[in-house]
Amino acid sequence: MEILLDTANLEQIKKYTSLYDITGVTSNPTIISKENTDFWPLLLEIRKIIGEKQLHVQVTTDTWEEMLKEADAIRTKLGNETYVKIPTTEQGICAMKHLKAEGANVTATAIYTAQQAMMASSVGADYVAPYFNRMNNLNVDSKKVIREISQLFQIHNKETKILAASFKNTEQVMDSLMSGAQAVTVSVDLLTTMVENAIIDFAVNGFKKDWTKIYGEKKIYEL
Ligand code: E4P
Repeated sequence: MEILLDTANLEQIKKYTSLYDITGVTSNPTIISKENTDFWPLLLEIRKIIGEKQLHVQVTTDTWEEMLKEADAIRTKLGNETYVKIPTTEQGICAMKHLKAEGANVTATAIYTAQQAMMASSVGADYVAPYFNRMNNLNVDSKKVIREISQLFQIHNKETKILAASFKNTEQVMDSLMSGAQAVTVSVDLLTTMVENAIIDFAVNGFKKDWTKIYGEKKIYEL
């Protein structure tokens, strides 16, 4: 099971890659734009922070030729563990095919259907990224789509992994993993929500109170 951070915010990346076992960082043009800063210095700083972890960077162009030019720049500047995110359109699939022939890492993004996942996997994409919440917004059963993709890849022995994305709550994240996604990319807000709430605090504070009654402020290593 892989957890990635869906952010380009340097402070968040620093904090959460040191706290957790994070597989990498994903971005898209919207996420990058939020940082409102120069593109390459931002991406290079992210690379510096995460070291050899995965960095998924999306192309911004529409034709496969232009996508390949952007992919080349992305790979040259950001190194081996970089995944070029390509929208799963007709042009995108052609770009993926060329990139895989060059040995690049590819993430097929903007996935709404199992058919798109099939096409991306057929040209060797390393990951497909189904958009959970965006599918829900279209009244599409996201869990079913992920289950279908998972079955499809299993039946046909495909090595392509499912990197579920686009979450608005933690239930969607868990549903993705339970439906067969091997990886999820999650905002820091959702990641925090998973382990921070009043009930957890209540339990932890109860233990602390009982300990203090007998041992005061002493820690285990001081006893
Ligand atoms: C993944 O990298 C996707 O680009 C991202 O999760 C989309 O999320 P959104 O639907 O919240 O914009």
